[in-house]
Amino acid sequence: MLSIKHQLLSLVFLLGVSSYVLSRNSGAAFDVTTGEKRPIYDSAPVGLSIEFFAFPGYVQDVDKTSQCIANLDAASESQTRVRIGGTTQDRALYDPSLTSPAKFVIPTPGGAPLNLTYGPSFFDLAEQLQRPTVVGLNRRLNQLDNTIAAAKQAVETMDNLFAIELGNEPDLYVKADPIANNQTWTPALDAATQIDWQKAVSSALQKDDIIEAGVFLQPPKFSVQELAPLEQGNGTLNIVKTFADHAYPQSACGGSKTDLATLMDHARIKTFVDSFSPEVEAASAVNKPIVFGETNSATCGGGGISPTFGAAIWIADYVLQAVSLGYSRLYFHQGTIGNCAYCWWGTSNVFAPYYGAYFATSALSGMSSVASLDDGTTSLAAYALYAEDCNTPKRVVLINTDYYPNTTTTSRPSQTFDLSSLGEDCTSVKVKRLTAPYATSQQELGQTPTFGGVSFDNSTCDALGSEQYEYVDVKDGSAQVEVWSSEAVLVYVS
Ligand SMILES: *[C@@H]1O[C@H](CO)[C@@H](O)[C@H](O)[C@H]1NC(C)=O
Ligand SMILES: *[C@@H]1O[C@H](CO)[C@@H](O)[C@H](O)[C@H]1NC(C)=O
Ligand SMILES: *[C@@H]1O[C@H](CO)[C@@H](O)[C@H](O)[C@H]1NC(C)=O
Ligand SMILES: *[C@@H]1O[C@H](CO)[C@@H](O)[C@H](O)[C@H]1NC(C)=O
Ligand SMILES: *[C@@H]1O[C@H](CO)[C@@H](O)[C@H](O)[C@H]1NC(C)=O
Repeated sequence: MLSIKHQLLSLVFLLGVSSYVLSRNSGAAFDVTTGEKRPIYDSAPVGLSIEFFAFPGYVQDVDKTSQCIANLDAASESQTRVRIGGTTQDRALYDPSLTSPAKFVIPTPGGAPLNLTYGPSFFDLAEQLQRPTVVGLNRRLNQLDNTIAAAKQAVETMDNLFAIELGNEPDLYVKADPIANNQTWTPALDAATQIDWQKAVSSALQKDDIIEAGVFLQPPKFSVQELAPLEQGNGTLNIVKTFADHAYPQSACGGSKTDLATLMDHARIKTFVDSFSPEVEAASAVNKPIVFGETNSATCGGGGISPTFGAAIWIADYVLQAVSLGYSRLYFHQGTIGNCAYCWWGTSNVFAPYYGAYFATSALSGMSSVASLDDGTTSLAAYALYAEDCNTPKRVVLINTDYYPNTTTTSRPSQTFDLSSLGEDCTSVKVKRLTAPYATSQQELGQTPTFGGVSFDNSTCDALGSEQYEYVDVKDGSAQVEVWSSEAVLVYVS
């Protein structure tokens, strides 16, 4: 995701910026056993998407990458999933004789290559991730034999290969792209080439269940809604492992304005995620999983909001909302090393959004279903998380998405969440708090977030500090938990 996109969508979500102001210190009451339980499909719903050309750099040059991923593995007690792809997958051609993983020229400092080649050792690095990994290959340049050669090498090298994408965000292809063969690019033409390529690649690999299909940025024009029935009609669903959409709620492209208060706001997060509900239904109608194959806060440089603690709060709520809707997994995009506002870590620092990923991963770890407790109309979010066969939730997530920036001169407001039905035997709950001085806080600028008192070291990504819990009394199954503006807490019920 590097180019101009999503301007209209971000405009829609920016309208009415001021309505996040709620009555303060009023609080909200939640019976934790209410809400519709929705299944959690994956043991590690929070994944990473790594931009194709940048992938070798992340694993070879950024020492902390393995520890930052290992922390998430430990939090999920599973393996964090990775997708390698993005805009540059559609600029890349496979060169079986190349001895380095990838070869490219960066045209402007901090930019992305206009074209690149990659060799067999690219897949050795992907294999060394030792976790389920999606590899995004080229369709835009219309070199099917080249993509098949790469796919064969991926299968041969990677025991951990989860799926292959054939093209990135094909809704953005144009008539001048070789795959369009000089025809106007339409959803029908995309579907025709997607399905043809799936058949060719699957047959060359002699593998079913291998393609991550769709990979669309802006449904519904190009969408799973449109593609899935055609896959079914053509009898190609056996080739499809999963469907994927991409999503960025805001954009700084082409003069679009970003807004942190809007990004964080729970009601807007719910509206944004709900707009994908026809996509989830379309995948479910053909019995296939659906993922956000690439996602993050704001395109085109992050617009000044992406590296902040507010973006961590956004991730916490967005992940739980997307999982509640039926997305199996979200792959958060990591772009150009050293020039990536929404990235979770870079060469010198760990960034605030990483804490949101760690929080959401901890909340979902080992859980089998989630129920949204609020109606999505205010800035307060509450989710109940259930382990298998339990009637009382094991964990509750409470998020106060009220915006608390460093320009505020008043003391930090709070909201009291009145929780009930925590269970007759329950006498106290443990609370782990995700906080930072402000929504605008950035670790690299000296305002380090904490989750239960723990931070992550800038150079090693090791956890720093000892884990702290707060204990809240429960009387007759009820407890009151206070959450300050721009904070989230994870409540351990049992
Ligand atoms: C690849 O990109 C470079 C600039 O980065 C350009 O000079 C070169 O002509 C391009 N090659 C092809 C085949 O497009
Ligand atoms: C594409 O079509 C235009 C006219 O519509 C023609 O001039 C051009 O040569 C065509 N290009 C290719 C590569 O076929
Ligand atoms: C098969 O896919 C093509 C697009 O490749 C589409 O035009 C056609 O309608 C599909 N067939 C059925 C029966 O769905
Ligand atoms: C607020 O934080 C931003 C970084 O997010 C920083 O650039 C700005 O200087 C800070 N302003 C104040 C008043 O501290
Ligand atoms: C990370 O680095 C920034 C400045 O580079 C520093 O102010 C901050 O304290 C560091 N945080 C941690 C947890 O190492």
